[in-house]
Amino acid sequence: MAAYTYETHEYDVVVVGAGGAGLRATLGMAEQGLRTACVTKVFPTRSHTVAAQGGIAASLSNMGPDNWQWHMYDTVKGSDWLGDTDAMEYLTREAPKAVYELEHYGVPFSRTEEGKIYQRPFGGHTTEFGEGPAVQRTCAAADRTGHAILHTLYGQSLKNNAEFYIEYFAIDLIMSDDGVCQGVVCWKLDDGTMHIFNAKMVVLATGGYGRSYFSATSAHTCTGDGGGMVARQGLALQDMEFVQFHPTGIYGSGCLITEGARGEGGYLTNSEGERFMERYAPQYKDLAPRDYVSRSMTMEIREGRGVGAEGDHIHLNLSHLPPEALAERLPGISESAKIFAGVDVTKEPIPVLPTVHYNMGGIPTNYWGEVLNPTAENPTAVVPGLMAVGEAGCASVHGANRLGSNSLIDLVVFGRAAAIRAGKVVNPESASPVLNTASVDAAFDRFDGLRNAKGGVPTAELRLEMQKTMQADAAVFRTAKTLSEGVEKMTEIAAKLGDLQVSDRSLVWNSDLMETLELTNLMPNALATIVGAEAREESRGAHAHEDFPARNDEKWRVHTISRVTGNKVDLSYRPVITAPLTTEAEGGISLKKIAPKARTF
Ligand code: FUM
Repeated sequence: MAAYTYETHEYDVVVVGAGGAGLRATLGMAEQGLRTACVTKVFPTRSHTVAAQGGIAASLSNMGPDNWQWHMYDTVKGSDWLGDTDAMEYLTREAPKAVYELEHYGVPFSRTEEGKIYQRPFGGHTTEFGEGPAVQRTCAAADRTGHAILHTLYGQSLKNNAEFYIEYFAIDLIMSDDGVCQGVVCWKLDDGTMHIFNAKMVVLATGGYGRSYFSATSAHTCTGDGGGMVARQGLALQDMEFVQFHPTGIYGSGCLITEGARGEGGYLTNSEGERFMERYAPQYKDLAPRDYVSRSMTMEIREGRGVGAEGDHIHLNLSHLPPEALAERLPGISESAKIFAGVDVTKEPIPVLPTVHYNMGGIPTNYWGEVLNPTAENPTAVVPGLMAVGEAGCASVHGANRLGSNSLIDLVVFGRAAAIRAGKVVNPESASPVLNTASVDAAFDRFDGLRNAKGGVPTAELRLEMQKTMQADAAVFRTAKTLSEGVEKMTEIAAKLGDLQVSDRSLVWNSDLMETLELTNLMPNALATIVGAEAREESRGAHAHEDFPARNDEKWRVHTISRVTGNKVDLSYRPVITAPLTTEAEGGISLKKIAPKARTF
């Protein structure tokens, strides 16, 4: 048994991660007087939410008619009928309230002439249940909306006495023998000390696992740490095969160019200068949802109409927009285009390519953020003491494909919901859980084993192998052949975790060890993704299977549940929740309106 001394901290709630969801949960917990700690591996305002550009969806109707039922319909259709209906209703109903709260907390939204929150069009957001024109629903702070939200939530959390543990890396969950989460074991990166957070509720807000792919808009810190911790406890991951490619990553660097660029009037062209989206999505064109646009771009490139010397990308045109509009609404991407593509957006198109952007799948939860451990007898069984929110979680509101700007609203609605629920189930007067020492020891043993790993494969080498395989074999379009080859390769790659080589044994600022821990988190996420994709013999949302091009609701309108042990993935399925929270008579949406149908735009 590895001998590490540690300091123990007792809290009502410990939130792991300080992005939009983690901070909104932290703030909500602290506002209610719960003793709340937020543990984060990066400084809060450097969390990946800071990079969110285009905005946050809510039916405020500031720019024209809108309502939550239209937003819900778009979200259901966007999800390709894989989202859970109760959660999608909760998201879209609560969205306006959550945005006004942000406004009152101090988020500096862009404004209309009348001083209202400015809203722009985004892909897949429509009026009249998909029959009317595109709606302006995405509330924006120029093209730096995530930045504005993150700074505001951090300030408010401090004001409400939440305590921050910054640059602490969460190694593993502490679980009781009967499956209750009791806390988390952490490593303090700057001085090498070890810490145990003993809590009545642990909230995983650790973000996505975009870095399991070679080219992603996600920060290098997006390593699926929550999913890794959950998988090591034998708990489930859900719908991992659904990986979103954002249509406009800058060619080469993968840096994000917001969908807001198309919302403000930008459009895509091929090598013939054609606005090809008019052919694929006659009604909404460049403002069709992301899976649709990414596939259309890929088809143009495959059919020889890509731009550039190698015909391998597409042009995003903004130069027809007034320079003052670009400066006011899109200053951030104008700068990114200059730095990363050498392009002056007022004069030239930006070279873009679909790039991995978001994980629809994650740790299964109900719409209060409580983690589920689905079984055949009880598909919605809750894991006591454990929640997951934001991209780490899967509520599931995005189903098979997320609409742009539904991510930031997911973060704040479900961060807030987790706090509301914790206020009901966490008793500040009760004693802290008596920690399961076997679970604590197992975490230190794993850490020590990696710290002293003397195998033959350096971490960076294995990570690259994983990233290249995922990029090639679980791409925008998938085939039975690429998927089965990918599963074989990933099974071998994951086995090499047992042969890792770590060269730095120190405990202070040991980036070799931290990246190794991160790789052990990325791997189960990646493996579950490709195994789940191989098994799903249909096309739905972001999962475009060329051998099974049609959606098959009869067989596949189900959530994939994966449990990862070593390099093996055990798959099972749980039903999609199809009942909304309210009936039409109560003001909810009509079931007929959201019944599955062909998904065209
Ligand atoms: O395009 C964007 O601004 C990204 C937004 C999102 O992923 O929701």
